[in-house]
Amino acid sequence: MEKDIAKIVVSEEQIRNKLTELSKTLIHDYKDKECTIIAVLNGSLVFLADLIRLIPFPIRLDTIDAATYGESSFPAADTKIIRQFKIDIENKHVLVIDDIADTGSTLKMVLDDIKKYKPKSLKSCVLLNRISRRRHQIHPEYCCFNIGDDFVVGYGLDYNNKYRNLPFIAVLKDECYRREGIM
Ligand code: IMP
Ligand code: MG
Repeated sequence: MEKDIAKIVVSEEQIRNKLTELSKTLIHDYKDKECTIIAVLNGSLVFLADLIRLIPFPIRLDTIDAATYGESSFPAADTKIIRQFKIDIENKHVLVIDDIADTGSTLKMVLDDIKKYKPKSLKSCVLLNRISRRRHQIHPEYCCFNIGDDFVVGYGLDYNNKYRNLPFIAVLKDECYRREGIM
């Protein structure tokens, strides 16, 4: 995988430091509240696993699966929930965790869906925020890094379901996107 990387956008150390900072904020904001986390699969998995281990009090956890990009690096025209969470969230403090807020379509759809179940509070937390392509009014309360237009992979984010296990966030060489027949 290393040979496919054009540049590292966020290093392992930057991620580690930011997660420590974020966990302190979450500990402060949720210390007297039971927090129910709904993580959006698959992109949030690595972020989720590292973040929740920095939280010292009990949390409730479930996942939701939303189909977004399919096999390409372009935003999909429509986003849908393909597997719903099962946990009871009525009157609960819910925190949605996702890898990136890009057009905002996934997060908007997930948040709108969750609202129907009447949570006591509802916030969202993303590892990456790309405001340049935003199409929906989405403002995640917790956000680790703002990034530019480049399509990125690693730390959970994929390109054609690869590169999720890179421990940092990186941009791939052009030929990697071309090799897969896209771009
Ligand atoms: P949105 O619905 O356009 O906000 O896109 C959200 C989803 O698209 C994310 O949860 C990611 O799975 C995917 N996505 C958006 N940008 C990138 C990227 O740069 N790399 C990898 N996946 C991305
Ligand atoms: Mg996703």
